[in-house]
Amino acid sequence: GLYVFLYICAIVLVALILNQDIHAAEIPSSEKPKVLKLAHNLHQTHPVHLAFIAMRDKLNTLSEGRLKMKVYPAGQMGSSTEILQMLQIGALDMAKGSASDLETFESSFSLFNLPFLFEDEQHFDAVLNGEVGRTVMQKTRALGFFCMTSYVAGYRSFYAKKPIHTPADLKGMKVRVQVSPMNLEMVRLMGGSATSMSFGEVYTALQQGVVDVAENNESSWVETRHIEVTPYFSETRHLSLPDFLTVSTQSWNRLSPQEQIWLQEAADYSARLQRENWHKSTDEAREKALASGGKMITVDREAFRQSVTPLYEQFRSKDDQRELLEQTLLLKRA
Ligand code: GCU
Repeated sequence: GLYVFLYICAIVLVALILNQDIHAAEIPSSEKPKVLKLAHNLHQTHPVHLAFIAMRDKLNTLSEGRLKMKVYPAGQMGSSTEILQMLQIGALDMAKGSASDLETFESSFSLFNLPFLFEDEQHFDAVLNGEVGRTVMQKTRALGFFCMTSYVAGYRSFYAKKPIHTPADLKGMKVRVQVSPMNLEMVRLMGGSATSMSFGEVYTALQQGVVDVAENNESSWVETRHIEVTPYFSETRHLSLPDFLTVSTQSWNRLSPQEQIWLQEAADYSARLQRENWHKSTDEAREKALASGGKMITVDREAFRQSVTPLYEQFRSKDDQRELLEQTLLLKRA
């Protein structure tokens, strides 16, 4: 009796399992949400991270949950250079790269690494959102990824344990820059000694004196807590370089035309939102800085500007770069 009972139980169990399998197989694969992974190196309170979160939510709404995004912040997936390389081999769908990160992949991004290039924000916007920006953003296509949109990043200034007023103050100081030949040369011309390093290593490097100075916008200085170890923010405002949202060409090609439209729409939305909020987030970062012992230092900007003029000459020596620069300068008083 017991054996018959167990036998029946076993049959019922097998039937149940099979039935479940059949059900699972019945769900069309198109109903399963696709999940795109986006990685970047900024902290979770940084305005660019918040823009990616807005993008994720927008994409979910637009696609009614069929196309999703997962955001990996704070360098969890690797440095900027590493995640851009992952895009190339299709190991990651999306990444953030600054104009400096992208320079080593495609030299035309170095346009945005020319210090004191933009007259004002209007000029910056005209370049980035116009023909010049569009050209540069598509240039990496052959490398396996391209830029879907851009985010503003304000101005970069130097910060250290003591105030910096003139280029002479940089003498003998070790300055961290991004992984960019242009940035290295910039600091060299200003009189400092430059070291390239990924963003995630900067806090410890400043703390331990591996470098004395870093340069960034207010949000990155405050949100990544660099301010704790380097409270003097000397407002050179020497660079205004955007961040770009890059997507792997392999991932993009796997999306249906409808999904591509949703993704682009969500990206554009996040960029608009981030631009609208940028000033507010910079003001908030400055307030936070002052409240926690940060000091804003006025500098001799003209002296810094003068010191980097040879960088323009070097830049002009390549035909395609000269052309980009000329187009950029034409937009000054547009
Ligand atoms: C800024 C920029 C980042 C960049 C970082 C850096 O925060 O928005 O994209 O990675 O600077 O200095 O590395």
